[in-house]
Amino acid sequence: MNEQQEMNVIQEIRSKVDIVDIVSGYIPLTQKGKNFFGVCPFHDDTNPSMSVSREKQIYRCFSCGASGNVFQFVQDYEHISFKEALRILADKAGVELKGFSYTKAHSKQDKLYEIYEIAQKYYQNNLQTNYGKKAKEYLSGRKIDEEMIKTFGIGLSLDTPSDLVQLLTKKGYDLNTLNQIGLASYDKDLYNSRIMFPLQDLSGRIVGFSGRRYDGIKENKYVNTKGTPIFQKGNTLYHYFDARDEVRKKKCVIVMEGFMAAIRSISIGIGNVVSLMGTAMTKEQAELIKRLSEHVILCFDGDEAGRKATLTNGEELEKLGCEVKVVELTDDLDPDDYILQKGEEAFYRLVQNAVFFSDYKIKSLKKGINLNSDEELAHYINSVIVETSKIKDEIRRELILKTLAKEFDIGYNTLEKRLLVLLEKEKTTLPVETIVSKEKKEKKMDKYTLASLSLLYYMLVNDTARRLFEAGEIFFLTEKQRFLASEIIYYNKIYGMIQIADFYTYLQDKPELLAILHQVLCLELSDDVEDSVILDYVKVTRENSVNQECKRLQKMMREIVDPLEQAKIAEKIRKLKMGS
Ligand code: CTP
Ligand code: MN
Repeated sequence: MNEQQEMNVIQEIRSKVDIVDIVSGYIPLTQKGKNFFGVCPFHDDTNPSMSVSREKQIYRCFSCGASGNVFQFVQDYEHISFKEALRILADKAGVELKGFSYTKAHSKQDKLYEIYEIAQKYYQNNLQTNYGKKAKEYLSGRKIDEEMIKTFGIGLSLDTPSDLVQLLTKKGYDLNTLNQIGLASYDKDLYNSRIMFPLQDLSGRIVGFSGRRYDGIKENKYVNTKGTPIFQKGNTLYHYFDARDEVRKKKCVIVMEGFMAAIRSISIGIGNVVSLMGTAMTKEQAELIKRLSEHVILCFDGDEAGRKATLTNGEELEKLGCEVKVVELTDDLDPDDYILQKGEEAFYRLVQNAVFFSDYKIKSLKKGINLNSDEELAHYINSVIVETSKIKDEIRRELILKTLAKEFDIGYNTLEKRLLVLLEKEKTTLPVETIVSKEKKEKKMDKYTLASLSLLYYMLVNDTARRLFEAGEIFFLTEKQRFLASEIIYYNKIYGMIQIADFYTYLQDKPELLAILHQVLCLELSDDVEDSVILDYVKVTRENSVNQECKRLQKMMREIVDPLEQAKIAEKIRKLKMGS
């Protein structure tokens, strides 16, 4: 199939499924007038700010600005590629995808994934050869069996300095690219004599490696892929893609530090686990965790660093609105060691009995406090009450205060009074949730931006607007807006009409234009528009362009010394301002 034929198949699939049916399979929708509304799954929200239009076959969120067609929704919701979303929807539409390769998506990036596939297969094979004997011994010493080696795609880089580079350059991949994606350093392999653990992106594609040395030396234990165009450690979680189903089933996600810990946990049947690959958690990672589930269990190493990470990361996740629990390990053990030393059963029990983050925090507040000092004691009790005030469950609040009262022989009422003061304060400082209304959004926008974006919308639905653009009457604010306008014209020429839902697919590989389209659609303009409205907006864009041009000429005038030339420019400015 050529590109055009493939576009036709994509449009056929799109037109055979109804976006309202598909979206309501993921989130509950209620009908209000022509549109359907639901809580947007692409940002943290409790208000129904996402609307789905049956007529236009698109969705848009007025709060976070997400928008798209049915493919985009399935892609983003499931965290899968366009091709995978297409397959799912083709199934639902009863359309065959034979001979379909989606040539348009076969981009530069796909080549990078291809390289990683080859590297991965190569490393995996090395481990099974004679060169892999020592590494195999190391792995079996760590109780990593053949099945786990296969499941997690574990491989081996050899001690020869450039065998992978040679293999890949022979296949036609250039050295520059190999350097760029973290497989080579100059003309040498980046990884030597390491056990290779593949790292996947959010869509499950291999995009990096973590290489562990197995010679017993502790320095540089791991070498990881550094930031590349397709991999940033801070934007991913180990096992994210494969954890999704289990997380959904178990309704919670377990977060660990190391990926070895995750591998061990998965191998004993606990699959709803991801790893940060370190103790630091970035904002992106926190959001990814929340997207997996709002019920989070932190299970970090049982050392000081792990305890610290539990406190800071737990705090961060709670701020995002997650309900956080903690599994506390002891004796400096990490989950991997713990399971190996104390057994699977013991670990299952620990996870079962994960404690609330607030209880964990209260317990840790007590550590290192001199209970004989009244001052320290009062400080401790106050901090506990502050923590308690953040707990939503009344019963738990009461239980904590009761224990506290008993433990230090303080009147329950005294503690409760303090708590009530804090609760009252929180009520008044709590931000009142408001839906950003369409009017407000428009108000925030300057009139030139509003005019440009509105005209782009009208170009999608109205002939007059398109004609005005082609006649050179519309002066868009930015170059990208102009590009989008040209694409609209081009698309309309090819297809004879514009179905916005399909225009989305057409723009797939132009994210910078898609971003503008999102803005345009979130204005929620009506398709029925008087020509006079369009002409008014055209005037506004013209006014802006005149202003810009005048500014440019005035600057020129200041730099010029010849009075005759200056007069000429002044005349030009006067004419511009008069609109001739
Ligand atoms: N890490 C790293 N570089 C290091 C040490 C750690 O990148 N020098 C990252 C790895 O992603 C690792 C995580 O931090 O998975 C947790 O570190 P650590 O607890 O030291 O690793 P373990 O999982 O215990 O690894 P191992 O059991 O192989 O020592
Ligand atoms: Mn370990």
